[in-house]
Amino acid sequence: MREFDETSITQAVIGRLSECSDPRFKRIMTSLITHLHDIVREVKLTESEWLAAIQFLTDVGKTCTDKRQECILLSDTLGVSVLVITLNHPADQGSVESTVLGPFYWEGAPDLPCGSNLAEGVKGEPTFYSGRVLGADRRPLTNALLDIWSGDGEGNYDMQMPEQTGMKARGRIRTDAQGRYWFRSIRPTFYPVPTDGPVGSMLRKMGRHPYRPGHIHMIVSAPGHLPVTTHLFVAGSQYLDSDAVFGMKESLVAQFDRHPPGLGPDGERIDTPFYTVNYDFQLRPAIAARGEACISAPIVS
Ligand SMILES: [Fe+2]
Repeated sequence: MREFDETSITQAVIGRLSECSDPRFKRIMTSLITHLHDIVREVKLTESEWLAAIQFLTDVGKTCTDKRQECILLSDTLGVSVLVITLNHPADQGSVESTVLGPFYWEGAPDLPCGSNLAEGVKGEPTFYSGRVLGADRRPLTNALLDIWSGDGEGNYDMQMPEQTGMKARGRIRTDAQGRYWFRSIRPTFYPVPTDGPVGSMLRKMGRHPYRPGHIHMIVSAPGHLPVTTHLFVAGSQYLDSDAVFGMKESLVAQFDRHPPGLGPDGERIDTPFYTVNYDFQLRPAIAARGEACISAPIVS
């Protein structure tokens, strides 16, 4: 057949995959073509709407730079990122849940000893983080890695600051012989995802707010265990009930205890109120997850 109508076109396109030698790719493309065609038929897409969609995707791509990932932001705000994570990292007893990587991960944060202040010169209320990284049997994991990043106390990430050329509020901390970690940073606040690009326009047109509840990011990894891309959310933060990227998980909400000015946990005098938070990250042994893809975390060593 050389000519197709609005129904036969779908099978015709799928039929062109007959020589595809990668069964997984074939399956994904077959489903993609099927659903894409169904959407076009269902809404009776007009030519101008089709062109607007092409322009939108073009703008999303062009907005990406080495420090901005509008494609991830699009995936996040449409709930695709958290859907993929949820499918590939089902919650199991005790192990820490995964959530979105987000658009502000910056590979190559400095390796710092426990106790370091990740937020030197960063605006925000001082916060002392501590806890342990554990295996499935709750055995402490020595030399586990926490690759940590957050915005400042006003919700701005270093990547978003035009005057900022270096990393801020980022660092890689390793656990000690007892599986413990501790570091200082700031108490993150809620913030809007970037709204000055095509995804921001999409959110406005949808009538949606762009805010995420206060959170600090980390990728936690240890030899022989599945790395986890996760957050700690600030208990009581605004927007916990309506995270713009759908990444909020109850098990990741941590209590940030407020203290008056005085000596911090490290013995240093703090002239302002400060916070402490304690959270243990339990990882799943890699062998327990055989057959599951591990796609939410970059490989870290
Ligand atoms: Fe974030």
